[in-house]
Amino acid sequence: MPFSRESLDQARRRLRAAGQEHVLSFVDRLTDAQRGALVQQVEGLDLESLPALVDRYVRRKESYHLPEGLAPAPYYPRDPRSTQRPWDASRSRRAGEALLREGAVGVFTVAGGQGTRLGYDGPKGAFIGGAVTGKSLFACIADWIIAAEKRYGRPVPWAIMTSPLNHHATVAYFNEHAFFGLEERDVLFFSQGVLPSLDMETGRLLLSSQGEIATNPDGHGGSLRALHHSGAIAEMKRRGVRHLSYTQIDNPLCRAIDPVFIGLHASAEDSSGEMSSKMVPKTDPGEKVGVFCTAGGKVQVIEYSDLPRDLGEQRDERGGLRFNAGSIAIHMIGVEFVERLNAGGGFGLPLHRAEKKVPFVDLATGARVDPPKPNAVKLEAFVFDAIPMARSSIIYETDRVEEFAPIKNADGADSPATSARIQTLRAARWLESRGVVVPRNPYGEPDCTLEINPITAMDPSDLDPARLPPEIPRGERMAF
Ligand code: UTP
Repeated sequence: MPFSRESLDQARRRLRAAGQEHVLSFVDRLTDAQRGALVQQVEGLDLESLPALVDRYVRRKESYHLPEGLAPAPYYPRDPRSTQRPWDASRSRRAGEALLREGAVGVFTVAGGQGTRLGYDGPKGAFIGGAVTGKSLFACIADWIIAAEKRYGRPVPWAIMTSPLNHHATVAYFNEHAFFGLEERDVLFFSQGVLPSLDMETGRLLLSSQGEIATNPDGHGGSLRALHHSGAIAEMKRRGVRHLSYTQIDNPLCRAIDPVFIGLHASAEDSSGEMSSKMVPKTDPGEKVGVFCTAGGKVQVIEYSDLPRDLGEQRDERGGLRFNAGSIAIHMIGVEFVERLNAGGGFGLPLHRAEKKVPFVDLATGARVDPPKPNAVKLEAFVFDAIPMARSSIIYETDRVEEFAPIKNADGADSPATSARIQTLRAARWLESRGVVVPRNPYGEPDCTLEINPITAMDPSDLDPARLPPEIPRGERMAF
């Protein structure tokens, strides 16, 4: 990293003005290369906005204000014949398929998270996703893209957001795996921004080593800015892509290409084609998922922790939860929407504060400390905060067994084990609908482990009974 005395002086002046000069406490002990890297890091930080952030999120601990007049958001029910809100699913499918045949759909995966709960040393996308094959989470999405490209005859470009902390490892992983059979030119990597982690007591920047400021990726909500800044959105547009299918990296069951959802988003009368979402009915009031609501005529997601308990527990006339539309972080996003948001420059979604444990260097001793309890405020933007910025936004109900099997933790809830169970439940359902006998235990759960690759079947009707076994042996692990 090139280093000059002037650039160090300039960094010092900016740090001093922001009350953060301690960042240079160890600068004399660093090599020139390390100094250059630190100066470059300082140059990349928006130090001028920092005092305001510290005041808002560390001193005042600004918290969320519930909007007035909150009501449950309407949604397209999973069963299009439902009397609650009948709709034409075949029409939506046709519209979605037409867009796919035109090459107007891309996939966009956010994979810049730190995966701290999983505790996996590497990009989360390299972690095991497939219940039987053990294929990686990246490969799970790649297979959907391959399936769609085969079926619709057009490339489906894939934008992958990394963070500066895992960018190189992610690109290397794709190279090692020959891009999972995809065309390398159709995979666009770009990195999201970072924000400094702040000392919870003082609002000071923390050092992760003597020559580096502790930062964290700026949240999946950073993606809408990074898509623009990186040039990825312009590149998608150049390729004729008009809509992006947004997926998180940690849900191996996500239907990365869903013609019905694509069509509904792009052509439903009440959709602006800017940002749409999928939901699953909540299992119980305490389930920790955000809930789709409306306020002031706009759809928005209220985080689990922000929804007052009395609202969360309200029942409708049929006994169901009134606020039951749980967000599963699956969206469609219009390319023009991303352009519109960024048009004025300086776009950013609101920040949310979280108190976390962030290892830091003790300024008195220079030693690294692993704090036993949260010591830092991390700031992150959430992608769903863009929903109310859309002119109008629709929600489509899905079934969690069909597409929600997240892997967040190494064990317990939302782990590889629970994900494999849900993947098996879905595969069993699909196979049984095609006449295959699936062994079940006394509780009715499949007594086997199953996985269906989207290249084999994007829907149950793609499974050819002539090529399926009549029965799955008990205890068997089978991938189709
Ligand atoms: P999570 O909120 O589950 O965070 O991310 P995480 O970083 O993966 O895991 P923990 O909380 O540290 O354990 C949901 C999705 O958003 C992406 C993640 O990669 C994942 O696909 N994400 C999250 C980003 O791309 N950038 C971020 O800054 C945060």
